[in-house]
Amino acid sequence: MANAPEKKEMTEVSEAQIAVHWREEEYFNPPQKFIAQANMPDSKILERFGLDKFPDCFKEYADMVSWFEPYHTVLDTSNAPFWKWFTGGKINASYNCVDRHLAKYRNKAAIIFVGEPENEDPVAITYQELYYRVNEVAAMLRDYVGLKAGDRVTFHLPMTPELPITMLACARLGVIHSEVFGGFSGQACGTRIQDSGSHVLVTIDSYWRAGTLVDHKANADIAVQTAEEMGQHVDKVLVWQRYPGKYGSKTPMVEGRDFFMNDLLKKYQGKKVDPVPMDSTAPLFLMYTSGTTGKPKGIQHSTGGYLAYVTGTAKYIQDIHPEDTYWCMADIGWITGHSYIVYGPLSLAATSVVYEGTPTYPDAGRPWRIAERLGVNILHTAPTSIRMLRKLGPDEPAKYNYHFKHMTTVGEPIEPDVWRWYYHTVGKDEAVIVDTWWQTENGGFLCTTTPAVHQMKPGSAGPGAPGIHPVILDEDGEEVPAGSGKAGNICIRNPWPGIMQTIWGDPDRYVRTYYARYNKNPKSTDWRDWPYMAGDGAVQAADKYYRILGRIDDVINVAGHRLGTKEIESACLTVPEVAEAAVVPVADELRGRVPEIYIALKPGIQASPEIVAKVVKANEDIIGKIARPKHVYIVPDMPKTRSGKIMRRVLASISNQRDVGDVTTLANPTVVEEIRVMVQGKDAVAQMGEVPEDIAKFGQNE
Ligand code: WT7
Repeated sequence: MANAPEKKEMTEVSEAQIAVHWREEEYFNPPQKFIAQANMPDSKILERFGLDKFPDCFKEYADMVSWFEPYHTVLDTSNAPFWKWFTGGKINASYNCVDRHLAKYRNKAAIIFVGEPENEDPVAITYQELYYRVNEVAAMLRDYVGLKAGDRVTFHLPMTPELPITMLACARLGVIHSEVFGGFSGQACGTRIQDSGSHVLVTIDSYWRAGTLVDHKANADIAVQTAEEMGQHVDKVLVWQRYPGKYGSKTPMVEGRDFFMNDLLKKYQGKKVDPVPMDSTAPLFLMYTSGTTGKPKGIQHSTGGYLAYVTGTAKYIQDIHPEDTYWCMADIGWITGHSYIVYGPLSLAATSVVYEGTPTYPDAGRPWRIAERLGVNILHTAPTSIRMLRKLGPDEPAKYNYHFKHMTTVGEPIEPDVWRWYYHTVGKDEAVIVDTWWQTENGGFLCTTTPAVHQMKPGSAGPGAPGIHPVILDEDGEEVPAGSGKAGNICIRNPWPGIMQTIWGDPDRYVRTYYARYNKNPKSTDWRDWPYMAGDGAVQAADKYYRILGRIDDVINVAGHRLGTKEIESACLTVPEVAEAAVVPVADELRGRVPEIYIALKPGIQASPEIVAKVVKANEDIIGKIARPKHVYIVPDMPKTRSGKIMRRVLASISNQRDVGDVTTLANPTVVEEIRVMVQGKDAVAQMGEVPEDIAKFGQNE
């Protein structure tokens, strides 16, 4: 087992270093009306889930889901740090999210789909209807496609009900789904198909995004070709249709490979499939996320532990009751959507809203119209959307008659000012807010207030969630005390049921990335020896609340989603003219952080707007539009150490308008001033023109 920490080639720059340092903020009390109806009003909840009660405290979450066979062991640590939760238990996630609600909630809406075009009425899918559709898809996947428990299937689906339906159909069979965010490029989808070893891709012809019917099937062809070039053959591409019977893509269907789901399903009308009793430790799904190296990590989540954890946290932290209409504005293509649009809320028999489009389409009043029309009373979104809605429609919420009892923020630190707008204007001073800190790897919330129990503090996530015991460690592994004002690496002392099982196909990387840093005995089977390192910097105030500062590694959190700097740099290097590329995070008013790219060209090549455009396009093709850089600077040379390492810290300082510090020891100190002048715009800089949409800027390459 490799025991060296994952190599950090870019530790010179971290998001934590460019974090804003906030002052202490005032407290807000949860409203009495909220407390009176809360699922978890027990002020002793954190004691009840104290470290002395670990791991048995988590039985409380396991009891919230239905088991075909009971587990015999709560936590098996025999192969630490590969944790096994609720072993011996047999469970099915699809049964828990669908079948078990039929007796009581048969004709209650499970999913309400809101298409982006406002002239299309919302569509409610009842639990009974969901049961029918999930069964039909499961029957078809099993009997026509031949899928069985343990197989992987990749989805490249946007936000329509077909996504949760296909997820639940796979879960019914024990087939491992691997959904790739619909906004990722075909190539990005292809590399994930290859990594997971999927033979089947499920996609859709088209979907609405910001007023355009996007041709999505085109990406499937690129994905299959990319996977094929990497040695992974895809037998079948299953294509949903946004408007059944009407093909909304210009790309031809490939004979023998591409099939319309709606055609195939005709033969399976009314067919039922018994949910397969899966081992608690059987993988439920893969979710790819970015890390230090260019290769995305396939985060593998379990069935029993994961489902228990998302059910428990959705109940206690989001206060979801079956009577609630809950809307999470995230995309199901990210972990937030898996845990808190699909599995958590549906396991609790809630009504979960699936909205297809962008929150600001056609205007910034759209979310509040949806909330009013559907009677949404729990809202879940991210700081990037809140900032956008505040900027474009600061007075819109007041115009609509909706009432939230609860609101979640997730994905990145929220500025206290933005938090206050969320509280006063969006929440109308009536809703409790939870600022939930967690990651793809974690399955569910790590730090958050328990809403009826704790006071809220703008900008702080709060203490650990029930049963989660965070600690801030310094470089030497010493604990950084609360109230010291010092930042460090936030870790979790104990495993919890929602923690990933491993990285798909790369167990060594799993150990290296998350556990090796603070483990002193790689042979230990005692969980106390394996603090989980999240990769975020944090400080803990005297009141024990954690304030998350941002990533300490080479990951940029763009609008609440992770992009690896190495992935972006690798994409830049596919442009033949580019010799070197360095990517740094730069603060952005709306999206939190965005990547900014520095490139040096090969000898003899002149800077030109075409090269900038090629770099932008390479990123969009290889990763997706989310990787669109704020600027691309063509520099004469990279600032380097004498050993030849690119000093990204220096570039990050320049991009973020900070002092570059002492650069005299660099191999080429004079280039720093040249770049600074180019970027910060002092003095005369030869500007050769800008690429469209003001996304790129560059100076002369001399
Ligand atoms: C990274 C994980 C978990 C769902 C969405 C993102 C940052 C997440 C918060 C928060 C401050 C946050 C961290 C974390 N982050 N939530 N409430 N406050 N930072 O999942 O793509 O795996 O990203 O997002 O930096 O490490 P992800």
